[in-house]
Amino acid sequence: MHPDFESMMISKEEIAARVGEIAREIDRQYAGKNPLMVCVLKGSLFFFSDLLHAMEIPAEIDFISVSSYGAGDKSTGKITMKKDLSEPIEGRHVIIVEDIVDSGNTLSHLRDLFAERQPASFAICTLLDKPSRRVSDVKVDYCGFRIPDEFIVGYGLDYAERYRLENDIYVLKRSVYEK
Ligand code: IMP
Ligand code: MG
Repeated sequence: MHPDFESMMISKEEIAARVGEIAREIDRQYAGKNPLMVCVLKGSLFFFSDLLHAMEIPAEIDFISVSSYGAGDKSTGKITMKKDLSEPIEGRHVIIVEDIVDSGNTLSHLRDLFAERQPASFAICTLLDKPSRRVSDVKVDYCGFRIPDEFIVGYGLDYAERYRLENDIYVLKRSVYEK
């Protein structure tokens, strides 16, 4: 284990098992609907890819990139769009796929933005949820794991662009970000 890590929180085996369960739920609920799956870059890249592989129904994909200002461990509440969707979503069944819901600012902003574009339906799928940190209210439709208030990295999640490529999810030592 990397010396910057406190402990492993979720192993790659546990992630794979849970991703399979979510894929089967989406398969059931979106049968015949050809949903548009939206990957929120960059953190949800591996989750998105594994989820899409595990799903069996037809689906289309698109990508969006937003930033919540700053490279630290806290969201500032200000969201800017770095890369928008490549196609309109009017009339589509949209499922937005995030790595983690923390304050909820990012997803409440995206939900409001997408609502203006009149999709047929809108759902939120997140690998991780830290409900104790919520500032903006968001309804999460699919959640991999509810986790306590720790800063975590790996499986796509980073701290200042580091540790994304770890296969498991780890708790980052406080000393790494409280400097
Ligand atoms: P929110 O807008 O506060 O809900 O923040 C969502 C974004 O903050 C996520 O998409 C992540 O990029 C980032 N984030 C929040 N908590 C963590 C964490 O524990 N590790 C890594 N990134 C995090
Ligand atoms: Mg993110």
